[in-house]
Amino acid sequence: MAKEVKSVEYGLEKIFEGAQDFLPLLGTDYVEFYVGNAKQSAHYYKTAFGYQSLAYAGLETGVKDRTSYVLKQDKIRIVLTTPLTQDSPLHDHLKKHGDGVKVAALWVEDARSAYEETMKRGARSFMEPTVEQDEFGEVVRSGIYTYGETVHIFVERKNYNGVFLPGYKEWKSDYNPEPTGLKYIDHMVGNVGWNEMNTWVKFYEDVMGFVNFLSFDDKQINTEYSALMSKVMSNGNGRIKFPINEPAEGKKKSQIEEYLDFYGGPGIQHIAIATDDIIKTVSQLKERGVEFLSAPPHTYYEAIPERLGVHMDMMKEDLAEIEKLAIMVDADEDGYLLQIFTKPVQDRPTLFFEIIQRMGAKGFGAGNFKALFESIEREQQLRGTL
Ligand code: FE2
Repeated sequence: MAKEVKSVEYGLEKIFEGAQDFLPLLGTDYVEFYVGNAKQSAHYYKTAFGYQSLAYAGLETGVKDRTSYVLKQDKIRIVLTTPLTQDSPLHDHLKKHGDGVKVAALWVEDARSAYEETMKRGARSFMEPTVEQDEFGEVVRSGIYTYGETVHIFVERKNYNGVFLPGYKEWKSDYNPEPTGLKYIDHMVGNVGWNEMNTWVKFYEDVMGFVNFLSFDDKQINTEYSALMSKVMSNGNGRIKFPINEPAEGKKKSQIEEYLDFYGGPGIQHIAIATDDIIKTVSQLKERGVEFLSAPPHTYYEAIPERLGVHMDMMKEDLAEIEKLAIMVDADEDGYLLQIFTKPVQDRPTLFFEIIQRMGAKGFGAGNFKALFESIEREQQLRGTL
């Protein structure tokens, strides 16, 4: 059963009981993707998801070996980076993993102390504290590895008022598609290998001071064919949530295993992005060509009033419209949530996005796991990887 930490509060200033405050995190700073063609990826994220041009680094700014486009929508910043030279180490990453998330950067007050405290507790170093400066001030960054080749970079920007980071210039574009209502990153999920989930749960507990506030075992997350296990890790103020998935034995291949095969090891499986109006957001995303997983069967929607119970009365959205858009609904004791999942956003069946609207609910849609995974399995079937 779901293990709950006492006095779970999402109020931003409430600290989870048991969480450590040696690593105060202010929020997600940015997410950096290594991609095969940053210019074209930037166009996709602007056109399809409504991100805005923010900053650029490359040959024109004196960077010789890579180019990076930075996009923004409300509180979300994504960086799309591609190598420019034949001998760039980024190629090794791309060859192994394909397009994917390299950096989940975390906003901190003090990047030196974040590094010292996590290294002292057993972290593996990615980047020693480094000061970067330009005419807008200075930024201190440091970084540690998490699962696979994925890293957390700690960003201290209290003495900086430039557009992104030193070395980047503002990117002014004549092409500015409208935003789609994406507001902030709700959670980022990692897939790890067989028997590795607890190792990484321990890493987030011991090295980063997080708490495990929800757990799901393979009895709870399974379909006729496959299964997985998942544990949700959160930092003390609840702003950073990293669920971790591990495959489990089933009759056929788990979607987590499919990910591990194609990504070449552990990595970020999906990024959940919050919106205040999922109907509007998803309608726009669909119009702009974002592909979502197919809808659960009609019986799923017929069962919603019963599944939501008391929360059905507070539901403002029209069920028929939700069904038409293939959005899923779940509830817990605190309220309900609406969510939908994209298909993978690159050629390999690896990273995808979730769009989520929380109406009080603090969970992750456990009531939808079965319908969701059946939908994923239909896709796996088409790929011949089930
Ligand atoms: Fe999720």
